[in-house]
Amino acid sequence: MRILITGGAGCLGSNLVEQFLPQGHEILVLDNFATGRREVVPDGIKGLTVVEGSVTDKDLVEKCFSDFKPSHVIHSAAAYKDPDDWQEDANSNVIGSIIVARAAEKANVKRLINFQTALCYGRPDVVPIPADAPTRPFTSYGISKTAGEQFMMMGATPTVSLRLANITGPRLSIGPIPTFYTRIKEGKGCFCSDTQRDFLDMEDFIDVMGVMMTEDAPTGIYNISTGEGKSIKDVFDAVATYLNIDPGEVPVVPPGDDDVPAVVLDPSKTEADFGWTSKISFDETIRRMLQWYDEHGISAIHSHLKLPAKN
Ligand SMILES: NC(=O)c1ccc[n+]([C@@H]2O[C@H](COP(=O)([O-])OP(=O)(O)OC[C@H]3O[C@@H](n4cnc5c(N)ncnc54)[C@H](O)[C@@H]3O)[C@@H](O)[C@H]2O)c1
Repeated sequence: MRILITGGAGCLGSNLVEQFLPQGHEILVLDNFATGRREVVPDGIKGLTVVEGSVTDKDLVEKCFSDFKPSHVIHSAAAYKDPDDWQEDANSNVIGSIIVARAAEKANVKRLINFQTALCYGRPDVVPIPADAPTRPFTSYGISKTAGEQFMMMGATPTVSLRLANITGPRLSIGPIPTFYTRIKEGKGCFCSDTQRDFLDMEDFIDVMGVMMTEDAPTGIYNISTGEGKSIKDVFDAVATYLNIDPGEVPVVPPGDDDVPAVVLDPSKTEADFGWTSKISFDETIRRMLQWYDEHGISAIHSHLKLPAKN
């Protein structure tokens, strides 16, 4: 395959580069390094081309497509750093997605894989959330990603949009796991929002991505998840146990205004259509993640949610 990966220097993108490159596929990464890291996609690696720039730059995107001639596109680039920067979110997540979708059509790409946030479902009526639940995003990130996904799904390229649970693995630097790991180790206080999330190990994600790249596989919208909800307090307890530190009582606080009580996705349509199911348990997923932090550390912590005011 010749795989063009937007946002390929990010957490998911770089894990995919590390998976596909040794298999002999050619890869082009287009990334503006807003949250991705240059050093994870170094120059001089055989089979890997890295282009610095934005998916909002139509001429650059079209040049990447015409020079590289991708057979597959993975659209992983997304802006989310500043929840108040609506314009940047709209530019990267809506306009950027349109530019990538149109370029893919023009280049006769065989398959386009888009990554979508579970925040597209907003506050759902049913949990676990089925893939055909209505979209009701209410944050800048969620709204812009949802519009971007809808444009992508209108294109002529065979397209699959994956609504992702919290993917957990190398280079993850956002969310409760790295936050608790850092704060508990430093003896700092923590709080747990009274919410549930669905944590999927990177190995399971890589596994399903292999299936998604298959040319005649189904297209459409799919949840990629374990379907199993775990509370943020479960994560806190697992991190404290791993670190063998007694952090004392931790307050469990109601979710913030821009948070959602339970983001747990129902993967049954994906399991039925693709014959894929997650295999790595929650405990093992957390253990692998923390072992990775022990070995590599945590570089930067970004979040697309605003912290409660008292923090
Ligand atoms: N990691 C998860 O658990 C998860 C869950 C739901 C959805 N997603 C989606 O998966 C994708 C990848 O997420 P991630 O966790 O790897 O985040 P990430 O921040 O590590 O990766 C995003 C990458 O996109 C790049 N980028 C941002 N704006 C860009 C632009 N305008 N042009 C080119 N590159 C740009 C960033 O520099 C970064 O390398 C995103 O679309 C995100 O919405 C991820």
